Amino acid sequence: MKNFTPKEIVSELNKYIVGQEDAKKSVAIALRNRWRRKQLDAKLRKEIMPKNILMIGPTGVGKTEIARRLAFLDNAPFIKVEATKFTEVGYVGRDVEQIIRDLLEIAIKITSSELKKSLKSQAEVLAANRVIDVLAGESSSNETKDKLREKLSSGFFDDKEIEIKVKDRSPSGQGFEIPGMGAQIGMINIDSLLGKEKFKNKKVNVKKAIELFTEEESENLLDQENLIETAIDNLENNGIVFIDEIDKIASNYERRGGDVSREGVQRDLLPLVEGTTVSTKYGTVKTDHVLFIASGAFHVSKPSDLLPELQGRFPIRVELKALNQEDLKRILIEPEANLIRQYKEMLATEGIELVFENDAIDKIAELTAYFNNTIENIGARRLHTVLENLLEEINFTASDLSDKKITITKQMVEDKVGKLTQDLDLSKFII
Ligand SMILES: Nc1ncnc2c1ncn2[C@@H]1O[C@H](COP(=O)(O)OP(=O)(O)OP(=O)(O)O)[C@@H](O)[C@H]1O
Ligand SMILES: [Mg+2]
Repeated sequence: MKNFTPKEIVSELNKYIVGQEDAKKSVAIALRNRWRRKQLDAKLRKEIMPKNILMIGPTGVGKTEIARRLAFLDNAPFIKVEATKFTEVGYVGRDVEQIIRDLLEIAIKITSSELKKSLKSQAEVLAANRVIDVLAGESSSNETKDKLREKLSSGFFDDKEIEIKVKDRSPSGQGFEIPGMGAQIGMINIDSLLGKEKFKNKKVNVKKAIELFTEEESENLLDQENLIETAIDNLENNGIVFIDEIDKIASNYERRGGDVSREGVQRDLLPLVEGTTVSTKYGTVKTDHVLFIASGAFHVSKPSDLLPELQGRFPIRVELKALNQEDLKRILIEPEANLIRQYKEMLATEGIELVFENDAIDKIAELTAYFNNTIENIGARRLHTVLENLLEEINFTASDLSDKKITITKQMVEDKVGKLTQDLDLSKFII
């Protein structure tokens, strides 16, 4: 973790998300507080609970995006779940714990790739040795091997084809499930249980062989026990659970008899958010210091319709604002991987230069805001449909165009998308 200060976190988030300053501030503080907590002595550290966040705002204004980017910043184990999923039959009950089991799988992946990075140079040496054994034969002299090693590291053999034995990773199809551990998570591969590993021969060039062997060797070097321990620690202290659509399990949401299970889900979530111990096939995981960020539009229901106990566990409330024309314009051009750039670079792969005139971008933002106001406000997601509509023809013909420069003018936007404002019934289907 890079130990960003709250201001730095906000400025990092600014690279991806336009506006929504309050929400950015809150999550920045929450993240920094985890760092602060880690500086404390162990006794006090245990006492500091994360202040969970409730994000309130209409659809498509950046709620999920903020949480996702935050997790990336910190390389934190992050999982997004839909609260409504847990009302489905079979999910009701203590299975909200599955969230933590899934998060642990994610934490293991993150931790394993971090640990592997630190083992890379060690693994590369071992991988080179294995390739040399293939090239020279295991029984050849050390002298010969040393010579080959030199040539190998200079890249001399990179394109040479060799046949190597690698671990067969294809699933054997034999597995059984441990009840109560949830599907998949509880699946155990009988082969690996019996320590039987399958190998297969593969023809590859030397460069690829080094890659495959390095991966295998770093896996061998990885101490599984240490990995699991580190991953669990990472989850317990840095994990972020994002619960989307929390408003839809508030009891006031469309009273249609589903209330009992909705309230049930809220009750199930309580211990998780409060701090509980979840058993997984890797061991137990404590959720006390996991950061929970819940989000919802709260159009129909209000935060006060949630169970009081649950409300109390999300003390920080932030409101995200609906996006206006100005915001939409900024979203088109400011974020690092903004939509305009995405389209440009996609077409550049076909040798085509796509240029947007300034007032064309203004017009796109204006029309997007118009459709949001007249049809339904779906926030920045509307930009996707508008641009897709505008550029569909170009995307379709790009591969065959002889003219390699296309300029999008205001007039083109008006002709293609603007005319849809005449027939809102029609645009409901295409925009
Ligand atoms: N303020 C913003 N700045 C930049 N991009 C944004 C912003 N708001 C939304 N977007 C973009 O719009 C898309 C949808 O945003 P996001 O997933 O965050 O919506 P949301 O607020 O979580 O909506 P929902 O309530 O439907 O889950 C994403 O691709 C995101 O990058
Ligand atoms: Mg979302």
